[in-house]
Amino acid sequence: MVSAGAGASGASDASGASPARRVLVLYGSETGNAQDVAERVVREAKLKHYAPVLMTMEGYDVRTLPRERCVVFVTSTTGQGDEPRNMKSFWRFLLRRSLSATSLTNMSYAVFGLGDSGYQKYNVTAKKLFRRLQGLGANAIEALGLGDDQHPLGYEAALNPWLRELWKSMREIFPLPPHLKDLTEAELSSAPLPACRFAHTALRLALAAADASDASTSFSKAEYEARESRDTTYYDGFVSENRCLTSDDAVKEVRHLEFQTLDASIAHYEAGDVLGVIPFATRAADAKVSALIERLGMSPDAWVRVYPSSAPETKAALFPLIQVKYLLAGAIDVDSASPRRYFFEVMSHFAESEHEKERLQYFASAEGAVDLYKYNQRERRTVCEIFDDFPSLKPSLAWLLQVAPHLHPRYYSISSSPADTERTAATHITVAAAEWVTPMKRARKGLCSSWLNSLDVGTRVKYSITKGSISLPPPETPLILIGPGTGIAPFRSFVRARVLQSSTASALVVFGCRHARHDYLYKEEWKQIEKDGSLIGSGGDSLGGVVVAFSRMVPEAKKRYVQDCVKDEAKRIWSLLEAGAKVFVAGSAEKMPAAVHKAIQEVVREQGLLDEDASARYMTKLETTGRYFVDAW
Ligand code: 2AM
Repeated sequence: MVSAGAGASGASDASGASPARRVLVLYGSETGNAQDVAERVVREAKLKHYAPVLMTMEGYDVRTLPRERCVVFVTSTTGQGDEPRNMKSFWRFLLRRSLSATSLTNMSYAVFGLGDSGYQKYNVTAKKLFRRLQGLGANAIEALGLGDDQHPLGYEAALNPWLRELWKSMREIFPLPPHLKDLTEAELSSAPLPACRFAHTALRLALAAADASDASTSFSKAEYEARESRDTTYYDGFVSENRCLTSDDAVKEVRHLEFQTLDASIAHYEAGDVLGVIPFATRAADAKVSALIERLGMSPDAWVRVYPSSAPETKAALFPLIQVKYLLAGAIDVDSASPRRYFFEVMSHFAESEHEKERLQYFASAEGAVDLYKYNQRERRTVCEIFDDFPSLKPSLAWLLQVAPHLHPRYYSISSSPADTERTAATHITVAAAEWVTPMKRARKGLCSSWLNSLDVGTRVKYSITKGSISLPPPETPLILIGPGTGIAPFRSFVRARVLQSSTASALVVFGCRHARHDYLYKEEWKQIEKDGSLIGSGGDSLGGVVVAFSRMVPEAKKRYVQDCVKDEAKRIWSLLEAGAKVFVAGSAEKMPAAVHKAIQEVVREQGLLDEDASARYMTKLETTGRYFVDAW
């Protein structure tokens, strides 16, 4: 059994930290990249002899912020310029009017953002955060750092120089005794770790996974959850339906899944909310996980005690024992995500073959950055694959937990309405199987979608429900809902809620797919709605209904995208807009939101008899007055 012991050097330690050297590292992360960066800041802070404490923004008691001396923020920007889920409450607090220009004058801060310059609102969350902190009187240690996904080397291209400058400035602002020399990464990454420490959210997922697998752990769930009440609550549930919505000839399989809570309680949500699932369960038996555990020199059934990086060691005994197989299957992503550079640095100390050690060291070095990118990020190399390529690697479990990518919940728009769930206890999602090939032509499958799609009815699942970025307007607001492919999921929820509202206003749904026989999702439902005229409001217009774009029609002239339908329906769209409609656009086709925006502007120009500038102003007004929403993924 690996148990908690003294002297662990996990990601952070809140307890013994010298207050004068405390550096709080707060992150807001959606997919885990910002968390990776935050963990790197923590590691480097340790090399520099600071005492870092790592937390999510949501997990931190924001009321104590004015007392912090030094805070490094890392945040991504998601969707169309939204802040990550685990930053929302923190951000709401910072926007409070009761805060003033002197609220944070004691605090020095730095912000690093992760974004994608392919999007219009590039890194907007980090930019807003940086400005707001400045406005509240905090002192910037370093200029805002902005990582860009579009860069061939990813966000690390900007992160590396930013960190170098950050530590230089830190040393000036928070001087350390002059004799202190930086530790080397090798000193930190080869030290034995006597205890298994883990980021606390990842630990919760592992425990949830073990729980849903009916595995015994030594923890009292209620007690643990009471302590961690700021976190998301997971429902205990099971799959009550899993059916295919596409034909065998469809290029991409899309499935309709329904989840019910085990205790028949109702999962409460509003139309537009999202469901988060942890992909795990059957993976505990997965041969890949077993092979990995064997590599660690452990038995899959061995019990380990794991405690969160932020918990003081004296409290370690409060944390649960869990079997290794559930820990790895429920908390580490060994089969889908790629690890970061630091993984290679740490692993180089665990390679028994000299040749492998050298290769890993090269990958971890500055000179090896481009080759590492080609081998690792670009190819989405997984932990299991790296272990296959480096057969002499035998890391400790404690280190693997520190550096392997964590398993994250995946979020899907709920496609049922709250009334559906009240009636049947089931909550619906619509899942497309994610499949692609890497530049080296290796086939890849999305971890969560392929797992979900394979689940039998009755399989236990853990799921959470969180606020989505869109919500259903009141019944008197006309709606234009544009969602090709699985973009239709939140609008199915809207429509199912709307038809019960005996709405005075009309709603127009624009759906897009390839072929009426292959991927026309929920075809019968849309046909019925169209037949019944259920989307025509009682106000007297006849603008509501469902129109569908088929993109693979023959002949060519009949091929349609949703933006073409927008133009075909110009009069209808214009009348709805003039009646005060709200426009919602959702979907995964990357260029679709921009094309739809352009098409609507064209409609406005032509139908409203406006020139280019005036139509652009009309569109801007829609956006700034909360009448135009995009949810793209
Ligand atoms: P395609 O695959 O034939 O290009 C759902 O995925 C639908 O969105 C498909 O019909 C797909 O068409 C379509 N789609 C792909 N790219 C698009 C774009 N840029 N704008 C609108 N629809 C698009």
